[in-house]
Amino acid sequence: MSSHSVPQQLDTYFERASVAIALASSSHDNPLLRVNHAFQELTGYTAGDVVGQNCRLLQRDAENKDARDKIHAFLASDAQQSVRTPIVNFRKDGRPFVNLLYMSKLRGQSGACEFIFASQFDVSRSQPELLATYDAELARALFDLKPKLADTGIIIEGSLMTIANTAATVAQAKLRLAELDG
Ligand SMILES: Cc1cc2nc3c(=O)[nH]c(=O)nc-3n(C[C@H](O)[C@H](O)[C@H](O)COP(=O)(O)O)c2cc1C
Repeated sequence: MSSHSVPQQLDTYFERASVAIALASSSHDNPLLRVNHAFQELTGYTAGDVVGQNCRLLQRDAENKDARDKIHAFLASDAQQSVRTPIVNFRKDGRPFVNLLYMSKLRGQSGACEFIFASQFDVSRSQPELLATYDAELARALFDLKPKLADTGIIIEGSLMTIANTAATVAQAKLRLAELDG
């Protein structure tokens, strides 16, 4: 599939998902193909603002070296199924937040990666119990998506590595946000 048209099953799923999600092409520089309503609520950017562009626009001038190194390793490795990292992002109105970004590969029947799936969560303005709820919702979303995609021949890889310590993750993100605000 060279045109990477988004299968209907994925589109329907995108409309229904309660967590923020984005889908990009696996082709050069991963332009965004879809973002859902929850993504728009989180970032302030509509699909019209971002589709066709790389999602790094959310980073503005933040360096994010560690996070980007992790993402580069994930994108470059055929074997690595998913990545999860906090990354400093900015809403359309300029307010910073720490995005707990999850990314995984969607492969076609040939085994080639066709799409990149991602989900975003503002961990810096959250509480540990809300992060735990998000984590469970994202895990369920991935679980639900698997059989729907199987009909299209697309395989979503890996299961979600759930966050071992939500309290520490949230505390770390709040510290980072305080630095950004300060
Ligand atoms: C589907 C998808 C969604 C992404 N979502 C985000 C995001 O919400 N925030 C972000 O900072 N980066 C996001 N990224 C990562 C950036 O697009 C990019 O891959 C990353 O910044 C590393 O590349 P760079 O160093 O060339 O910018 C996403 C990538 C993909 C493929």
